[in-house]
Amino acid sequence: MLVGWAGNNGSTVTAMILANRKGLKWQSKEGLETSNYFGSLIMSSTVGIGNDSEGNEVYVPFSSIVPMAHPNEIVIGGWDINRVDLASAMDEAKVLDYDLKVQLYDEMKNMVPLPSVYSPTFIAENQRDRANNLIYGTKQEQIDQIRKDIASFKSKNNLDRVIVLWTATTERWSQRTFETEEELLDAIRENNEEVAPSTMFAIGSLLEGCPFINGSPQNTLIPGLVRMAERLDGFIGGDDFKSGQTKLKAVLTDFLIGSGIKPLAITSYNHLGNNDGRNLSAPLQFKSKEISKASLVDDLVKSNPLLYKKIDDKPDHTIVIKYVPAVGDSKRAMDEYYSEILMGGRNVISIHNTCEDSLLAGI
Ligand SMILES: NC(=O)c1ccc[n+]([C@@H]2O[C@H](COP(=O)([O-])OP(=O)(O)OC[C@H]3O[C@@H](n4cnc5c(N)ncnc54)[C@H](O)[C@@H]3O)[C@@H](O)[C@H]2O)c1
Repeated sequence: MLVGWAGNNGSTVTAMILANRKGLKWQSKEGLETSNYFGSLIMSSTVGIGNDSEGNEVYVPFSSIVPMAHPNEIVIGGWDINRVDLASAMDEAKVLDYDLKVQLYDEMKNMVPLPSVYSPTFIAENQRDRANNLIYGTKQEQIDQIRKDIASFKSKNNLDRVIVLWTATTERWSQRTFETEEELLDAIRENNEEVAPSTMFAIGSLLEGCPFINGSPQNTLIPGLVRMAERLDGFIGGDDFKSGQTKLKAVLTDFLIGSGIKPLAITSYNHLGNNDGRNLSAPLQFKSKEISKASLVDDLVKSNPLLYKKIDDKPDHTIVIKYVPAVGDSKRAMDEYYSEILMGGRNVISIHNTCEDSLLAGI
């Protein structure tokens, strides 16, 4: 179940699974396209398992190594504060080719998200108009409704397991971390405004025995929630999808620092024009993204005290995100890696990446 089902990611992933399940083909300006799962580690990568009797290397699909559900079998549902059917959401997203969308309209027209929890201070003011499909009541009543929604989705679709994924709008950082489970539960009883909607979905999921994954950068997984997950032996995880620029940064920074090259400055600039970009144009929501993107480099720096000798020695790390409506979902990411090499030399790597935002995250 997706929280934020009617967003760009939610509508794209739904269309992708339906198209694959039906084996759809469609015409694009490149010619006939066929549904696939390119970009999926599980569905489209292979693992080397050794050599055959003639010494040739043998690779098998990742998905054949351990038993796992095929994505075509996944039933998708979820919540959104915006009441819009998934066909219209797919249209608004402007991600998929027209000929593919036409084949999916009838089925996606019947898919409508469940009402959701909305706390106006957590997302940007520019998202307010979307909030027309809401669960009302106290925080406790809202969590109870989330639990009911999960239980009824599971029984109605006769499912083995429900996984809840937050792919909703990036929230601001919650000011309170609620260190223990008791503090968190007290805060819910008191209707404390600092309990974020994403944390409430995580609580509802844990209490229903469902894994909860956070695809956005805010501090959903606060200590009190982690304590609750430990007590219930539940699974919670995730800190932003990190599907494009940050994924590349993780690989490249790991490569540089792992090779004994010392990045002195990592300067990252993005512009994008979808609704995610619109929300991130507000300072508090941008701050959540900035913290999450920066933490990745901090962790890698800690891994090499030969290069970064002092505790506060780390690269200058600058992150800029600009909202440019005209480019829509086609996000531009420009990064410069300025590093120190042998005998005081300098090395500069510049990257320009145009990444179809929701096709990266959708996988
Ligand atoms: N490549 C990527 O697209 C990418 C990468 C990393 C992280 N993310 C994160 O994933 C999230 C979704 O991205 P998107 O492009 O689909 O954004 P989007 O704005 O298109 O969709 C977000 C959806 O969440 C809904 N929503 C907001 N608050 C809600 C709530 N409390 N409950 C239920 N629904 C709610 C909105 O109405 C909207 O439909 C964002 O937080 C984004 O930062 C995206």
